[in-house]
Amino acid sequence: MSVEDPTRSREHATHHVYDDIEEDDHPLPVWWLGTFFITVFFGLGYWFWYHSVQAGESLAQTYEHEVAALPKHASISAAGADALKALETDTEALVRGGAVYAQNCVACHGAQGQGIIGPNLTDGFWIHGSDAVSIATTISEGVAAKGMPAWGAILGDKKVLDAYAFVASLRNTNVPGKTPQGVDAQGNAPPATN
Ligand code: HEC
Repeated sequence: MSVEDPTRSREHATHHVYDDIEEDDHPLPVWWLGTFFITVFFGLGYWFWYHSVQAGESLAQTYEHEVAALPKHASISAAGADALKALETDTEALVRGGAVYAQNCVACHGAQGQGIIGPNLTDGFWIHGSDAVSIATTISEGVAAKGMPAWGAILGDKKVLDAYAFVASLRNTNVPGKTPQGVDAQGNAPPATN
């Protein structure tokens, strides 16, 4: 005995009866088939465009292009070595830089720059370069792998430049603290201590 389903049209249905077993084969609704074929063609097109001829940019490539287009520590490279040198004797920048240092850097580099977790900033030896642009760039971009934050993104370029002025004033003041790391301006390693 078959139960009539009033919601389904029997108009296009195939009706089979085998051994008293009734079988109906209703065609799939047009909207369903339509959606199905649209996704199939979209998928083929997508595969062809992004994977086969690779005419389109993948999300990863878009990301890389956008990152590459970002201005890189703009004010530091624009400021250049001469402007950084000028900051070193700018007393107002030094005072502002001292405040930035006290608030953000003391925890790792020590109140006098003698070094705690971060290296001693008062010796003549530098891990990431002793010239003005290198030091300012290290402050701005940080050393993610070693726990030195990228201050450019946190403080902005102006405060980074002020902090640079202060750090430059610590150079070669030789406060006893963490053993020197890196090399000096001539590329020499610190004398062995034992
Ligand atoms: C969370 C700890 C931490 C804080 C806070 C921190 N630093 Fe550092 N800093 C480090 C570490 C660790 C290194 C060493 C990175 C390495 O070994 O490559 C470093 C390296 C440096 C260097 C390069 C030293 C070299 O020998 O080349 C400079 C310059 C510097 N920091 C300046 C600053 C300034 C300025 C601030 C504040 C705005 C600051 N740091 C705040 C941890 C810190």
